[in-house]
Amino acid sequence: MKIGDALSIGDIERLAKRRLPRVVYEGIASGVEDEHGLVRNEEEFRRYHLLPRHLVDVSQCDQSVSLFGRSYASPFGISPTGVAGIFRRDAELMLAQAASDANVPFVMSGASMVSIERVARINPANTWFQLYAAHDAKISDDFLRRARDAGFGTLMLTVDNPVLPKRERDMRNGFRLPPKLAPLDLLEALRHLPWVLDYLRQGGMPVMETWAPYAAPGAGAAEVARFFRTQSPSVQTWRDLDSFRRVWPGKLVVKGIMRPSDAVRCAEQGVDGIVISNHGGKALDRAPASIEVLPGIKAAVGDRLAVMLDSGVRRGSDIIIARCLGADFVFVGRATLYGVAAAGLAGATRALDILREEIDINLGLIGCPRFADLGPDFLLRDGGETSSPDSVPAIAETV
Ligand SMILES: Cc1cc2nc3c(=O)[nH]c(=O)nc-3n(C[C@H](O)[C@H](O)[C@H](O)COP(=O)(O)O)c2cc1C
Repeated sequence: MKIGDALSIGDIERLAKRRLPRVVYEGIASGVEDEHGLVRNEEEFRRYHLLPRHLVDVSQCDQSVSLFGRSYASPFGISPTGVAGIFRRDAELMLAQAASDANVPFVMSGASMVSIERVARINPANTWFQLYAAHDAKISDDFLRRARDAGFGTLMLTVDNPVLPKRERDMRNGFRLPPKLAPLDLLEALRHLPWVLDYLRQGGMPVMETWAPYAAPGAGAAEVARFFRTQSPSVQTWRDLDSFRRVWPGKLVVKGIMRPSDAVRCAEQGVDGIVISNHGGKALDRAPASIEVLPGIKAAVGDRLAVMLDSGVRRGSDIIIARCLGADFVFVGRATLYGVAAAGLAGATRALDILREEIDINLGLIGCPRFADLGPDFLLRDGGETSSPDSVPAIAETV
């Protein structure tokens, strides 16, 4: 299968799996501990069903949304995914380009291999910067300065990793910085020669350019990665959030919120948006899925800040379900990362195209031509909880 033949994010994942050595592919696919959260993220979306409304003119569907004072072509963007350069050289630049071409936001990870300044050459107006705050506050401040100088308007502070999560699959695989493969895995890697040659051509693991300025002068890739680990994860509190709010002049988003009371506190502290996220199942294994806590959070904060969500999104219909439950915007992590790993810019673009097409098709099929008009009356949930008067007989028929 070629990338142009991929019909679903699942197809793109299979292409990425074919290109990457097993251990490297699993660095994307893996979760933490028993991978309970990873499974739950996708399962919880499948508990919802869409209740179509028929005989509606759906000849033109509109999925554009406005967020933070600008219009995006689609209601989803690219979540920050660190160390993407391991999966493909300069992957961050390709993700930024694909997002720019599609007019959706790209969130550059604070653990990127490509520097802020290089990413900024693509389309800074379209790029948000995600910060993993450092132990040394001077480093965090400098990141903010660089992001501001680069022209990024939105800062996303990730708060769900105050300590290093237990990534057992990665630990068993030796997937760390730099990766340390067992002899059998090295042999397996040889079955993925194009990736191996690409990796060797770039001199092995790339330097984390984002962090290189703070490590010892002339530090190599492994040293910079080790330095990063001495600074992050770092414990942050509401007081730190307050200082970020005071220093950062643009939009401020907090990523990793799971409780209504935390969302309310973010609103009180002047945060512009939150991303409900369990880090795609890569942080707290026993966390609920984002989609489970979305209704409670939306009920608590209403329109006081933008309520966004990621974790487990694989289909356009997942994005529609999130909107029906109150999400203003949605992000995907693995979908586009598999795309760029499988086929570079064309792969990331294909992943975005697939999601966009699926949203259009589903809007047509459920009889809601405007994405912005989606609401809970389009939803049925396993177990019968629904707010749609239409859905009551539907449940009765299926029981
Ligand atoms: C390989 C990988 C690296 C990630 N790196 C980061 C990161 O640097 N910063 C961050 O806030 N989240 C990071 N995440 C989490 C994503 O931003 C996002 O929350 C998650 O992937 C969403 O779930 P999904 O992959 O099911 O879409 C990473 C996720 C993956 C899979």
